[in-house]
Amino acid sequence: MTNFFAVLGNPQLWVKFPHVEVAALTTGAFFVASISAYFLLVKLEYRSWFTPPFQISLLVAAIGSVLVIVIGHEQAQHLITAQPMKMAAAEALWHTSALHASWSIISLFNPLTHHTWFSIPIPYMLSILAYNSLSGRVMGITELQHLYIHRYGPGYYVPPVLVTYWSFRLMILLGFLMAVLAIWGIFLMRKGRLFQRPRYLKLLMGGLALPLVGNIMGWVMTEVGHQPWIVFGLQKTIDGVFPTVSMYAVIITLVGFGILYLIMGVIEVRLRFKFIRHGPEAEEAHLSADRDGIPPTTF
Ligand code: HEM
Repeated sequence: MTNFFAVLGNPQLWVKFPHVEVAALTTGAFFVASISAYFLLVKLEYRSWFTPPFQISLLVAAIGSVLVIVIGHEQAQHLITAQPMKMAAAEALWHTSALHASWSIISLFNPLTHHTWFSIPIPYMLSILAYNSLSGRVMGITELQHLYIHRYGPGYYVPPVLVTYWSFRLMILLGFLMAVLAIWGIFLMRKGRLFQRPRYLKLLMGGLALPLVGNIMGWVMTEVGHQPWIVFGLQKTIDGVFPTVSMYAVIITLVGFGILYLIMGVIEVRLRFKFIRHGPEAEEAHLSADRDGIPPTTF
């Protein structure tokens, strides 16, 4: 890096950073809300402990989910100009839509033949999403491929469309599910009907998976969608490989880190379940024993 301020001035940062930060905050809020829901549902003796964190986290989750969607929309608008091929792949848009681009809720296609055999389009929607207007040209994969050959030389500049399309769709779907789940909870809370709705609390316990999977989908879309570039327009992924690093070294490192993260993940999840099962009083007793210098007991 030669200029840190150039990084700060990169417009990409100012849509990417808030999207990921708010997504992280919302994930935390869903985590607290779902564990609180467990105690409110299963361990009724802790109802007074968990009602305040439940209410606060639900509020943060609702605001966060809406913000993630709004900022995600900003980010998509930025991508249309910054990385049009990624957006074209995320929409499986094989050809340029000259005036009114439609957005598909779902599209079944063959990425090799570019043939779409089933699609549910919403007319004008892609133009609205891209430009906040009923009309607006959105470049398609075929035309971008020709343009990039002309600009960057011979090569194949199309990312894996199937993965980019579905990871984007799933991220959006999960974002809306998160918002509905959190806003529904606030509605029940305001009506004072939350504790008469065990089914809602059960749903919220599972709701923790939504932002976790959403984050993974966002990351997959981002990274897969900019292939074959490591830095769009500047450096290809293939040129980012250091010549003295062998393929075996890469595979061993990847598998090694994979195993390490897997072990750490299993330990983390087991510990979380253990502490959640024992409840906050056991944790409190554990901490005060620690403070008084009494050797901790296992619980
Ligand atoms: C309507 C909903 C959403 C829209 C329109 C949206 C839009 C986007 C777009 C366009 C990108 C790609 C950015 C790029 O390649 O530069 C992205 C990335 C991402 N999104 Fe979303 N998103 C939405 C919902 C969510 C949700 C619900 C989460 C998670 C809770 C999430 C987490 C992420 C993450 C972690 C990335 C990766 C960012 C990176 O690696 O730089 N998004 N999103």
